[in-house]
Amino acid sequence: SKSKTLEGKTVLITAGPTYEAIDPVRFIGNHSSGKMGFSIAEEAEKRGAKVILISGPTAQKTNNKNIEIHKVTSAKEMFDEVFKFYKNTDIAIMSAAVADYTPKFVAQEKIKKSDAEFTIELVKNPDILKTMGEEKSHQFLVGFALETQNEEENAKGKLEKKNLDMIVLNSLKDEGAGFQKDTNKIKIITKTEQKEFSLKSKEEVAKDILNFVEEKFNKS
Ligand code: C5P
Repeated sequence: SKSKTLEGKTVLITAGPTYEAIDPVRFIGNHSSGKMGFSIAEEAEKRGAKVILISGPTAQKTNNKNIEIHKVTSAKEMFDEVFKFYKNTDIAIMSAAVADYTPKFVAQEKIKKSDAEFTIELVKNPDILKTMGEEKSHQFLVGFALETQNEEENAKGKLEKKNLDMIVLNSLKDEGAGFQKDTNKIKIITKTEQKEFSLKSKEEVAKDILNFVEEKFNKS
């Protein structure tokens, strides 16, 4: 197998969706499967990294005893968990699909239906990645972007605005890429470079991402 190119490094990864509770039985979620984040975690571990994987609700599993999994539900919980480990992280790869909004009030009892219409008031969630960018010291920070329009421009905007070292762009327009799929087609963007990859399995995509990270990280 490959040499232990990430030996001695701590890699922090987020994966999956977040669920934002409406009442005890309902939530607002999204279609993220967690596959991309879990694949990156497996590959980073193979390369000798200490891997901390913080995952929202997903069906993904790992048999890898060396991967430290922390399960969370909401964006707020993910935020708190990430910042327990961020200081001692060398490389952070944030692939979770974090909910941007959360219900302002969580009903303590199941909401009953009535004949009236029903409105849920939403408030902004904290942006985990943006906060990491603000508090960045030595960490190499990687974000993901999933865009349906002006993809490159939006991804570059996020790279800048969130103070990232690298962003992985995946397009929903590409057949076979994105949510719930086993394959992905990405473009990697840094301040000075960009590189487009072909459609491949998420395991192979994880290798491409980590190869790129290692190359940049070793120079930074
Ligand atoms: O701004 P946008 O949600 O498109 O940015 C996506 C990137 O930001 C992903 O890497 C995602 O994990 C991260 N993010 C986050 N916390 C949020 C929203 C997004 O960490 N509340």
